[in-house]
Amino acid sequence: MARITVRGITKKFGELDILKGIDLDIPDGEFLTLVGPSGCGKSTTLRIIAGLESQTSGDVLIDDRLVNALRPSRRDLAMVFQSYALYPHLNVWQNLATPLKLRDLNFWERLPLLGALVPGRAQKTKAIGEIVRETAETLKIEPLLDRKPGQLSGGQRQRVALGRAMVRQPAAFLMDEPLSNLDAGLRVHMRAELAELHRTLAATFIYVTHDQAEALTMSDRMAVMMDGEILQIGPPDDVYEDPQDIRVAEFIGSPKINILPGSGDSAGGVECLDARLARRLRTPVDGNVSIGIRPEHLELRSKKANGNFEGLLVHAENLGSDVFLHVTLMGGEHRIVVRASPQEAHDLSVGDTVWVGRERGRAMAFGTNGQRLPLVSKQRSRKVA
Ligand SMILES: Nc1ncnc2c1ncn2[C@@H]1O[C@H](COP(=O)(O)OP(=O)(O)OP(=O)(O)O)[C@@H](O)[C@H]1O
Ligand SMILES: [Mg+2]
Repeated sequence: MARITVRGITKKFGELDILKGIDLDIPDGEFLTLVGPSGCGKSTTLRIIAGLESQTSGDVLIDDRLVNALRPSRRDLAMVFQSYALYPHLNVWQNLATPLKLRDLNFWERLPLLGALVPGRAQKTKAIGEIVRETAETLKIEPLLDRKPGQLSGGQRQRVALGRAMVRQPAAFLMDEPLSNLDAGLRVHMRAELAELHRTLAATFIYVTHDQAEALTMSDRMAVMMDGEILQIGPPDDVYEDPQDIRVAEFIGSPKINILPGSGDSAGGVECLDARLARRLRTPVDGNVSIGIRPEHLELRSKKANGNFEGLLVHAENLGSDVFLHVTLMGGEHRIVVRASPQEAHDLSVGDTVWVGRERGRAMAFGTNGQRLPLVSKQRSRKVA
């Protein structure tokens, strides 16, 4: 079990600043996800924690012990990669047993025939067999122990790869996009399995992905990375509900949050296209702001009313449980996505004029620098005043 601390990690590749000061404090037993677009430095961060890459500056601590100078094998962490890297010529049992044999048996004990003559070997082999069996049971892969990797499905192979990381009972698991080789359905299934495995093992997991859905569904906390920096870290709900940067708001959530141009006045009031927001900016901005509204916080209205957006339905994506309506505003200048129920969307056709209202208190405002600007209800601001 391990608490992992990362302090002020920077990384340069040549002249390029790839990591610009990463700080993380991951308590023992947490499932932390590093999520961000391709190339933002997730794998580099993970590899530095594992000791597979050296940082330009900054510290990595495991259980408050500085491990900067420690080789990967001495850090007691297990890495699970996207490619399973199983031994193709060995069966599942042998694949699981190999890390233990390498750790627990010496050169002579590992010899296939002569090894049997070494005193004490039988006991060690039995202990290894026990761990392999327990691990296979946890991962529900006992029926596969005699098969070679080539005879397994992607999900089964991924489970064996996890098992191989588990047998050594590492202090923490570092996983780099372990599900990205799987098809969509299996990925969703394995998400649930990984979250369950985390609960069973109660070990620290650091999980890297560019898939925001994986981060949202599995983690205790997620760190959203972009351009070598962590923009926001927190429980998935907080990051989704309360993004502090427009880049976080746009990266987390599917379909993406709608961003529309707005303008603030010196009294804190905010106009968005031809509608006025019910709340005002806590700190007035006299000028341009961006307004973010998630598709589920927009709703179809039956008729034109004050404050509604009038638009043209250009596309409807029917997912069965929800319908995502693509609506253009202001003669096509802007485009928004509205989540509707199949019942609401039933009578609509592409080309129809629609009116879109906003759920109260849900719009978010961002400044021109991308930072979140808090909105407060008028009543509250009067009270404060
Ligand atoms: N050995 C290297 N030499 C030079 N540049 C590198 C090296 N390794 C990574 N980079 C660069 O560092 C940046 C971050 O890479 P990294 O692999 O950490 O990204 P990532 O967030 O894991 O992306 P992905 O989601 O595509 O895996 C990228 O721009 C990459 O090109
Ligand atoms: Mg990567």
